[in-house]
Amino acid sequence: MKPIKILFVCLGNICRSPAAEGVMKKLAAGLPVEIDSAGTAGYHIGELPDARMRSHAAKRGYILNSHARQFDPKIDFEKFDYIVAMDKSNYHDLQSFDTSRKYSKKISMLTDYRQKMDAVEVPDPYYGGPAEFEHVLDILEDGCGGLLKVLQK
Ligand code: 4NP
Repeated sequence: MKPIKILFVCLGNICRSPAAEGVMKKLAAGLPVEIDSAGTAGYHIGELPDARMRSHAAKRGYILNSHARQFDPKIDFEKFDYIVAMDKSNYHDLQSFDTSRKYSKKISMLTDYRQKMDAVEVPDPYYGGPAEFEHVLDILEDGCGGLLKVLQK
């Protein structure tokens, strides 16, 4: 069976999207899915996820060890089935990269799959403290669980 390919996208690819990648990899372990993450910006290319995010994620059992990369419209739109933005700005940037409008339907927001949380986006925790990082992980667990249910249908 051909795996379903999921790409999580935030701004820097060091906080939210690598955490979403880690959460989804754990939730979907053993299923035919391929999971990756990328940033709309290139400020942090090659870096490991932010130490604060790695530490908060590790406490919940998620090991984040991907290296940041920038979203590549020439490759990623075609390659991935689900391109999942963390916030509205990431979503609009992705839609604007899709100049052909061919891939619009592949692009969604993680909060489109929310179950219990009432969040409408995953807020940027970069300038926040521990509570902001925990809140991000709460939204990611809720949204990734919902996405998994959609995939299993
Ligand atoms: P992310 O968080 O988009 O969740 O990876 C950010 C990381 C870095 C910056 C902003 C947000 N920055 O401005 O460098």
